[in-house]
Amino acid sequence: MGSELVQPWPGLNRKSNHAWIKLLLVTLLFGVAFRFFVSSSNQRLVLPDYARHAFFGGLHWTESASLEPGPEKDFDVEEIDAGDQRTSDAQQDFLQERRCDIFTGEWVYNPSGPLYTNDTCRFIESTQNCMTNGRQDREYLYWKWKPYGCDLPAFNGEKFLESMRNKSWALIGDSILRNHVQSMLCLLSRIEDPEEVYHDEAFKSRRWHFKSHNFTLSLIWSPFLIKADIFENDDGESKADLELHLDILDKNWTDLYQNFDYVMISTGQWFLKTAIYWDNGTVIGCHYCKGRNLTDVSIGYAYRRTLQEVFQFINSSPHKPIVYYRTWSPDHFENGEWWSGGTCNRTQPYKKGEYNGKDIDRLMRKIEYDEFNDAIRLGGSPMRLLDTFDLSLLRPDSHSGPFRTFRPFDEQGRRKPNVVNDCLHWCVPGAIDAWNDLLMHMLGI
Ligand SMILES: *[C@@H]1O[C@H](CO)[C@@H](O)[C@H](O)[C@H]1NC(C)=O
Ligand SMILES: *[C@@H]1O[C@H](CO)[C@@H](O)[C@H](O)[C@H]1NC(C)=O
Ligand SMILES: *[C@@H]1O[C@H](CO)[C@@H](O)[C@H](O)[C@H]1NC(C)=O
Ligand SMILES: *[C@@H]1O[C@H](CO)[C@@H](O)[C@H](O)[C@H]1NC(C)=O
Ligand SMILES: *[C@@H]1O[C@H](CO)[C@@H](O)[C@H](O)[C@H]1NC(C)=O
Ligand SMILES: *[C@@H]1O[C@H](CO)[C@@H](O)[C@H](O)[C@H]1NC(C)=O
Ligand SMILES: *[C@@H]1O[C@H](CO)[C@@H](O)[C@H](O)[C@H]1NC(C)=O
Repeated sequence: MGSELVQPWPGLNRKSNHAWIKLLLVTLLFGVAFRFFVSSSNQRLVLPDYARHAFFGGLHWTESASLEPGPEKDFDVEEIDAGDQRTSDAQQDFLQERRCDIFTGEWVYNPSGPLYTNDTCRFIESTQNCMTNGRQDREYLYWKWKPYGCDLPAFNGEKFLESMRNKSWALIGDSILRNHVQSMLCLLSRIEDPEEVYHDEAFKSRRWHFKSHNFTLSLIWSPFLIKADIFENDDGESKADLELHLDILDKNWTDLYQNFDYVMISTGQWFLKTAIYWDNGTVIGCHYCKGRNLTDVSIGYAYRRTLQEVFQFINSSPHKPIVYYRTWSPDHFENGEWWSGGTCNRTQPYKKGEYNGKDIDRLMRKIEYDEFNDAIRLGGSPMRLLDTFDLSLLRPDSHSGPFRTFRPFDEQGRRKPNVVNDCLHWCVPGAIDAWNDLLMHMLGI
């Protein structure tokens, strides 16, 4: 894997005065071009990279502004859609709003706290129900994401449901995506309590209907997005190595794709697992198979190929839902990993720049950026990147930790045997609620 590891924040050292002048010129030019684009069409607006960097203008992005296409792509900003309901009249609002890069900012104290608790929401799974499981500190609940240059309003369930009348959403992915769905259901059920109308045997894929809004929300379990033969029980103990097919998408989601008006996809973590990889009907190698005489398939290669297949499917599908891809969710294990006593016992967010993530975080995020940008460049379907990476990176305090387990400590305050820390999934309520605040903003409602 070593050779794939990306440099921390490529582009950071490319800043120069020269670049600032170019940037200013590009900004001016872009202003003119933008008027033309918007007034001639309210469809998707796909801009060249340099224009996007210039347009968003925040420090984070200008620093990585590369005006010539370099050998290595920078992290690009995404989400350049003009929005579906926007007309050219809304041009001014649009400019105003989009001048703010909502993904770059800081966590600020929020005295009003979360919109729901363990007592008011019935959709929190026990492993993410930190309050019920006995987490005592409360500070992690009193932060809100504040983008530099604008405010991000809290998720408004009423507005969301109102604008989603007769619509259907699918959220497709792994257990972190399911974690996100819990937050969404908690926020929406304050307005209307939905009825569960479908679940599979293991309750991994589920569907809820909000009757009075005729809104349907589907959760689809597809941790790899590609065809996978999984030989493990519900505790994650595997009986044989996973077998993954890089050229075949998982029918769990593709067969249902045509039913949805909006789709959110996110995955990644499962690619860290030991797996045998197939392509075009032959075994091409294996990831992390010690003692097997197989070529090593890197995480990066497998994830990149998978995303290419996924985005190609989306771009070429005759059905055109609005698709959000949510970026990699970083863990915050310290002093070890899941299996080696890793902890996450911080009680406050990091400050900007205090923590930049692990190599694997930056690698997976970069792959998502690259492939997403290639996909929107090719075009064909409305796609947006819900980039929760930076804001999540700053929240080591909001994971379940030992509180994935009910009352993990005994009376003497000692950790009970068999309690492991979960520094990957997020407490609900908690920092993960901000993902929905961002989504609300991106929907423009
Ligand atoms: C919610 O958490 C509090 C402790 O923070 C606990 O007293 C209460 O019983 C929990 N409610 C439910 C429904 O589990
Ligand atoms: C929802 O569907 C119903 C029945 O087809 C229709 O009467 C109603 O106007 C629709 N509402 C919206 C907002 O599309
Ligand atoms: C609910 O929405 C669907 C479209 O998603 C529509 O076909 C149906 O008529 C709606 N039902 C009602 C009762 O409005
Ligand atoms: C598809 O969904 C079923 C039921 O939820 C699940 O058992 C299966 O593992 C999923 N397939 C893949 C490839 O993840
Ligand atoms: C896939 O394998 C078949 C033979 O099984 C071969 O004819 C075909 O060219 C291969 N396709 C690709 C894209 O490699
Ligand atoms: C590993 O596989 C290669 C090619 O398939 C073969 O030439 C070699 O002998 C194998 N080595 C062992 C130790 O099995
Ligand atoms: C957090 O965990 C570390 C071990 O990883 C430990 O040394 C430290 O004392 C803990 N801090 C608190 C406040 O419990």
